[in-house]
Amino acid sequence: MPAREFILGIETSCDETAAAIVQHGRIVRSNVIASQHDLHALYGGVVPEIASRAHAERLIPVVRQAVAEAAITMDQIGAVAIGNRPGLIGSLLVGVSGAKALAWSLNVPIVGVDHVQAHLYAGLLTTPTGAAPVDPSSIFPALGLVVSGGHTSLYRVESPTAMTRLGGTIDDALGEAFDKVGAVLGLPFPGGPAVDRAATGGRDRAFDFPVSRLAPGSLDFSFSGLKTAVRYAVEGVPGRDGQTPPVPTRSSEFTADICASFQRAAMRAVRLKIDAAWAGTHPPPFRALIIGGGVSANSRLRAEVAQFAAERRVPAIIPAMPYCVDNAAMIAGLGHALLDERDWTSDDLGLTAHATSKPARAGA
Ligand code: KG4
Ligand code: ZN
Repeated sequence: MPAREFILGIETSCDETAAAIVQHGRIVRSNVIASQHDLHALYGGVVPEIASRAHAERLIPVVRQAVAEAAITMDQIGAVAIGNRPGLIGSLLVGVSGAKALAWSLNVPIVGVDHVQAHLYAGLLTTPTGAAPVDPSSIFPALGLVVSGGHTSLYRVESPTAMTRLGGTIDDALGEAFDKVGAVLGLPFPGGPAVDRAATGGRDRAFDFPVSRLAPGSLDFSFSGLKTAVRYAVEGVPGRDGQTPPVPTRSSEFTADICASFQRAAMRAVRLKIDAAWAGTHPPPFRALIIGGGVSANSRLRAEVAQFAAERRVPAIIPAMPYCVDNAAMIAGLGHALLDERDWTSDDLGLTAHATSKPARAGA
């Protein structure tokens, strides 16, 4: 049995085929991501069948590349961690099948990892030459915020492997709202990074978009009203006959103003919920704010979270850019933490994929 130093992580839950080697659960030795954005751009969204097929074609080359870039050999892999929930079922099954075959042939443990929990692990990762990793003994319990294309939720995080959901979106995920705003403006897919870029130099109060609050004290989010307000601002409000007025020519200033104003309204809503969750805690209070998921790459959110942390004098755990969007390093890292808790007992090879989140180790 190889040592417990290196874990191979595999991630195929949506449209990224990813593999990574993580050392001691924290040090990323390689992080390979084969994005499928080019394959789905034509359709303006992820097509599940195309995603599954691309995973099947790319998984083995991506794993080989991750091992080579880490400068280790296959027999140094001590375990295989696989993101097996939640996600697109066909995509997950490709990764799970590949991970099981690898773990079996290498005779090492396999561990199924929850993708959303893994996003909250991403901020604990570092590189061999990077800053010292965050000391987990000083940050829990923490308030966790996952903002991605499929999820927008707040958690009370007791440890990297134990958390309770406090609230979440009742309609669109935040990343989904970014993607739809990008699509309405004709920006490249996926819209999130393009909206972020286009917002630079825009006036964030040019449009007075709604900031959703929901019920007083609610820790849930809603972004569909904001998304619709942006659409009406761009395309015009439909008349009684359902027809919209002719679309005026859009200048780059107009696009920048829409993006900046949208980001402001969206991030105000996020900030209100973070404040409410923080205020609503009873002793012991949160000791840190942890964020993760694709939208944690957003410049406005990162600034907002840094400001929150400075005001409250608590650490903000914000993933480095490569670990915000879907990646396998976060899967390997959390897999290591899960295995440590159970003395590296393997999940059963009956491990399967779940389209929705299941408690850790369910289905094992
Ligand atoms: O975590 P992720 O890679 O996949 C899911 O688990 O869903 O998140 C992808 C989402 C997409 O909606 C993408 O547009 C958004 O993250 N995203 C961003 C930025 N970078 C990625 N949204 C806003 N600003 C960004 N800079
Ligand atoms: Zn994700």
